[in-house]
Amino acid sequence: MLVTRQPILRRFWYPVMPAASVEKGPQPFTLLGQPLVIWSLGDGQYAALEDRCAHRSAALSKGWVDRDAVVCPYHGWAYDRSGICLRIPQRPEAGPSKQPVVASFACAERYGYVWVALGEPLAPIPDWPEERDPGYRRIDQFYEPWACASFRLMENSFDNAHIHFVHRNTFGDINDPDPPLPAIERGELSFVARSDVPVLNNDLQKQNLRDDSAVTIRHMTATWYLPFLRRLHIRYPNGLDHIIVTAATPVADGACQVVQFCFRNDSEAEAPAANIIEFDRRVTAEDQAVLETTDPDVPLEMGSGIERHMPSDQPGLLMRRMLLDLFARHGEAEQTRHYAPRQAAE
Ligand code: FES
Ligand SMILES: [Fe+2]
Repeated sequence: MLVTRQPILRRFWYPVMPAASVEKGPQPFTLLGQPLVIWSLGDGQYAALEDRCAHRSAALSKGWVDRDAVVCPYHGWAYDRSGICLRIPQRPEAGPSKQPVVASFACAERYGYVWVALGEPLAPIPDWPEERDPGYRRIDQFYEPWACASFRLMENSFDNAHIHFVHRNTFGDINDPDPPLPAIERGELSFVARSDVPVLNNDLQKQNLRDDSAVTIRHMTATWYLPFLRRLHIRYPNGLDHIIVTAATPVADGACQVVQFCFRNDSEAEAPAANIIEFDRRVTAEDQAVLETTDPDVPLEMGSGIERHMPSDQPGLLMRRMLLDLFARHGEAEQTRHYAPRQAAE
């Protein structure tokens, strides 16, 4: 699957950058190969346009904001959030353009991030109640580019067999190579996978979890939101919730922007955010080192023979099936360099 060649993937919300970073001025971001300029309209509103001036194609993200409009740095044309050209400094009598002259995209703020959908969204941005619950705090963890396909990070998140190998130096137990399979409940554009996985509890994690035992159990409820968003609710035996939200926002076929934050039902005094980030940093660095070696053109067809599978791959195989189903419902065939496109179902 080459994500930039699957138009239906444009019809989902993706977090693209921390809202705070847009307060400095217009910012660039490339989503599914589409260059964007994002800017703040104040009052928690944001705008997203194609990052290309209608005049001579200069990047609007190099410009500035004037009265809610983004101003091109080349000759000063100013655009509103709908892509209408409001002002041409050299032709003040012309007035605003009757139609948008630059493409605009849906843009919203949630959980401290600006989210963008390039087409009419098929599903809303998920509503996670912990954001409003005073019993939980949100900790921003990572915002960084990874050189791998978004799908690889998603399937990794639901692959319990990788824990004991990739994470053998943090919490995995290499002597337990075959952990329990999750029980999966499928929705239309999401699924929920539940499993209880015993893991080792290292020193930093003992502090973070306030649990001295050498082995603990992760009661995991992991939700996949098609295509590249997951929420992993880990409940520990002492009632501690560590809820990780990870987006692998697709930048290009082999590049994604990792956005990760977590919710915790403990306090800064009990477990400093810096220590929580430090442990999750070690864990994600282990994933990144392996995932950046994988083929970005993920073959979705199970029977293609290009990749072989084992029982613990069940969630990743379901993701493949659900993506193929989505493509078929919208008359798209999988685009890949591995084999000729299969005709989409009628
Ligand atoms: S290129 Fe943008 S105003 Fe000329
Ligand atoms: Fe991992």
